[in-house]
Amino acid sequence: MDQPKRYLITAALPYANGLKHIGHLAGAYLPADIYVRYLRAQRRDVAFICGSDEHGTAIPIQAMKEGTTPRAIIDKYHELIKENFTDLGISFDIYHRTSEPIHHETSQEFFLDLHSRGELEVKESEQYYDEEAKTFLADRYIMGTCPVCGYQRAYGDQCENCGTSLSPDMLINPHSTLSGKPPIKKSTAHWYLPLDRHEAFLREWILQKHKDDWRANVVGQCKSWIDGGLQPRAVTRDLDWGVKVPLPEAEGKVLYVWFDAPIGYISATRQWGLDTGKDWKPYWYDKDTKLVHFIGKDNIVFHCIIFPVMLKLHGNILPDNVPANEFMNLEGDKMSTSRNWKLEMQDYIDDFIKKDNGGPQLADSLRYYLTTISPETKDSEFTWKGFQDANNSELVSIFGNFINRTFVLMHKLCGGKVPPLHNAILDDADRTMIREIENAKPRIEALLEQYKFREALFEVIDLSRKGNKYMQEKEPWIVARTLTETPANQGLIDNCLHICLQLSANLAILINPFLPFTAKKMLHMMKVVEKILDWENAGKMNLLSVGYSLRAPELLFRKIEDEEVTAQVEKLKAASAAKAQTEPAPAPSGKAAPGTPAPSETPTAQPAKPTIVYDDFAKLDLKVGTILQAEKVEKADKLLKLTVDMGAEQRTIVSGIALHFSPADIIGTQVVVVANLAPRKMRGIESNGMILMAEDKSGKLHFVSPGDKIDAGSGVS
Ligand code: 2FM
Ligand code: ZN
Repeated sequence: MDQPKRYLITAALPYANGLKHIGHLAGAYLPADIYVRYLRAQRRDVAFICGSDEHGTAIPIQAMKEGTTPRAIIDKYHELIKENFTDLGISFDIYHRTSEPIHHETSQEFFLDLHSRGELEVKESEQYYDEEAKTFLADRYIMGTCPVCGYQRAYGDQCENCGTSLSPDMLINPHSTLSGKPPIKKSTAHWYLPLDRHEAFLREWILQKHKDDWRANVVGQCKSWIDGGLQPRAVTRDLDWGVKVPLPEAEGKVLYVWFDAPIGYISATRQWGLDTGKDWKPYWYDKDTKLVHFIGKDNIVFHCIIFPVMLKLHGNILPDNVPANEFMNLEGDKMSTSRNWKLEMQDYIDDFIKKDNGGPQLADSLRYYLTTISPETKDSEFTWKGFQDANNSELVSIFGNFINRTFVLMHKLCGGKVPPLHNAILDDADRTMIREIENAKPRIEALLEQYKFREALFEVIDLSRKGNKYMQEKEPWIVARTLTETPANQGLIDNCLHICLQLSANLAILINPFLPFTAKKMLHMMKVVEKILDWENAGKMNLLSVGYSLRAPELLFRKIEDEEVTAQVEKLKAASAAKAQTEPAPAPSGKAAPGTPAPSETPTAQPAKPTIVYDDFAKLDLKVGTILQAEKVEKADKLLKLTVDMGAEQRTIVSGIALHFSPADIIGTQVVVVANLAPRKMRGIESNGMILMAEDKSGKLHFVSPGDKIDAGSGVS
């Protein structure tokens, strides 16, 4: 596409069912923000759209977990997530919500349009129904025996034991996880988007037209979907939470969340139009708009196959690109909310940005590291050590150091003013440095245009590295010692600092899309207005006028100390250990394939574990203990430190039960302890053993105790 008239940039709408982690940030929001900031610096017409995805079974399930209403859940998480994005400098033009009436209207109109054109099919099918709960059951709400391996707690869509994909029909003895009763089959009508009718279009559009300009992982995933055979996909559900299907015969049905969520991009754009007085329509209808969806790889099929078919049928433009990222792991393991192995944006903000010594520069430190490890072509890994290294040895020691040295020396050797450039005495090193500055712009620009943010950022840092090297070669502080003897040498000092200052201004422009808070700080030091950050200024050598006086340097970044890193690693381990103690690992949530009903997480089901032999059980040393003391663990709201009488000895056990019991109430309680569990450090306290707990349906914990008071240390078998 030649330069388009306008850009519409979207980032996947996060589910408002919980806080989001840095894997989400690195996957969609940060790359989208870098791209948008670059486009804005190019003075292009751009709308950056995002918002909360507030429908689907994920929301009522979270409401059940938190003992509240779906409405309360979306209200809570929408605000928190929105604020997290602001704190990290993600600069949406609108952060909308799919619960807004304008979204319901837009989605209903969209559905009716496809329906009236005959582009949807209605099919009756027999679905499982819970007569007691009076509701149809999504596949994840049905459990039964796996026909393949005999595992008794297989879900309606998958057996977690042997991994086989199932449908509820295949389960032996299926039962509802809501009432526990066997569900009955009941006929229900649903509307389907017949993807099979669009195979030729998808083949041509993705596998021909975009085979080279889309990322290989994206094209590859699409190809396997298409080659696997596209099936009609149900776009309605029997559920009471979502956008009502706007047909009289569809009482009690809502649009499938993956039908309404991407329409959320359109309704948000409409709202943005209302808020700003802009005409929103060309953004979705004019061919001269470049639409780019930033997403994580689990969203590829929805953004590259299903939504484009919907857009085509509805007469909208299609995405020009869908730069999907792979996943980011954390300290050697997959990020997981259920196992509490994650770093939430909120936690980073609390521990770094909002702390006394923090500030927005710490937002940039995270933005920097996440971009350097951006999982653009393969999964990548966040480690706290890696974060510290990137911050300390690149941001502080290279970029920050160059700017700092330049400003300090300019104040020391040039009277705090931009010195002149003496062309007559420019040498090779000066000319090379000037050329590097001029050449950086097209290189970085080309990478940004191709969504290669990681490499683009590398080029920016590399330019500052060259600046350091140049300064090191020129040694203006040494030249300064010769001035009494050779006053003309001031010319050499002037040239070096003139070039370094113009380079500093260039670096502010080039770093701005990635580290906007840093760019702002640099503007302040240079006493220039934001206009200087216009992309067209990059490569210029006259950004700061000769004789202009500049402010004293401020440190752009601060070092990350070893203790901070250790504390974070410990915190991560403690949180995941606490979770493991209080909750059984829930099933991973799957994404539905096109043509199959969407799975949803089961709120009450706890997957059983594989069968063990007696010898496995006999390895456990279970003993009765009596709680002697209990106290809260500082800065860990879930943990209690317990002293437990085990008969022959007293043990310290850290247990993740603080949200369920107050310390005073449990003194004297008899519990069952796994006495031979390897010691584990939590929040710096060594825990020796684990207390067995039972969890009821509501998530409340109960001690497993002997029926009568017996001697501490008694064996349990
Ligand atoms: O995977 C998710 O988190 C979805 N809520 C993304 C939706 S993107 C868009 F279609 F709205
Ligand atoms: Zn199985």
